[in-house]
Amino acid sequence: MLGIKYPIVVGTMMYLARAEMVAAASNAGALGILASAIFRTREEFREELKKLKGMTDGPFAVNLNLFPMRTPVDNREFMEILVDEGVRIVETSGHRAPEELAKNLKAQGVTLIHKCVGVRYALKAQSIGADAVTVVGYENGGATGTLDVTTLCLVPRVVDELKVPVIGGGGVADGRGFLALLSLGAQGVIIGTATLVAEECPIHPRLKQALISATELDTMVVMRSIQNSHRAWVNESAKKVAELESQHAGLEAIVQAAGGDKAKRMYQEGDLNAGVISCGQGVGLVKKIRPMKDIIEGIVQQADEIRKKISSL
Ligand SMILES: Cc1cc2nc3c(=O)[nH]c(=O)nc-3n(C[C@H](O)[C@H](O)[C@H](O)COP(=O)(O)O)c2cc1C
Repeated sequence: MLGIKYPIVVGTMMYLARAEMVAAASNAGALGILASAIFRTREEFREELKKLKGMTDGPFAVNLNLFPMRTPVDNREFMEILVDEGVRIVETSGHRAPEELAKNLKAQGVTLIHKCVGVRYALKAQSIGADAVTVVGYENGGATGTLDVTTLCLVPRVVDELKVPVIGGGGVADGRGFLALLSLGAQGVIIGTATLVAEECPIHPRLKQALISATELDTMVVMRSIQNSHRAWVNESAKKVAELESQHAGLEAIVQAAGGDKAKRMYQEGDLNAGVISCGQGVGLVKKIRPMKDIIEGIVQQADEIRKKISSL
């Protein structure tokens, strides 16, 4: 359906999933997903799409963000541009299934994947015409929702309920997790956190090293009090947000402390405590800075070895 060599999706990432990162994933045989919400104007978005098309012949998708944003973007405008630029695959993610967008995208023949965190949301996505549904478990980096179902339990439940293909993820960082999710019935596997340390990922080397030193204990869920639960890397800023939440601070104070512009600075300048960044528990499995191609091929190779080993049991 997606035309990819390996059934691996490299998840969209705010501020990071620009042309270079997406092309690296697509050129490695996975599906890269451009984060349209990074771009503030139609022109910037179109330019990045053109740049991406010049960097890969592989399939890629564009994410349309439905999560709350401080300065909301107009997805209808982005949709017009991506259709105009010949994008074939769109991923949506957010708190609600995108009924209006889905209708328009389907009318244009675009393949639609919706990403969510629970059976009922997945069913809703299917009912509005999603061609595939991605579900991520509670251990995932980024939005967790409020259902808190782990990957191991969520993926087979969704597979049992849906007719359309399921892409599963949350905590997958190597061939073991990849094969496990295929065993659970997922037809594709999404990875995010594991690619933060890809050579092509545009974050400061100091932050990459810090993530390599992190363990599965170094994440926490923040922003639940403002209905925007995210699993983040534990640092001073994330702890500050948690403290504000425990004091029942208002929306503005929390958003101020967790503001995305600070994460952006953190990525660029490597100030480890500047902002809050999404990070999944799989960070404990991430041990080496490597090219994206090595990460993707390493996953597939390891899965192959395990498959051979267990088929002789
Ligand atoms: C740094 C970071 C930023 C992310 N930004 C977004 C985003 O803007 N929109 C979105 O839908 N998902 C976002 N995600 C989630 C990923 O696309 C993917 O679903 C998730 O990372 C998979 O779980 P894993 O991290 O356990 O592999 C982000 C994840 C990370 C680690």
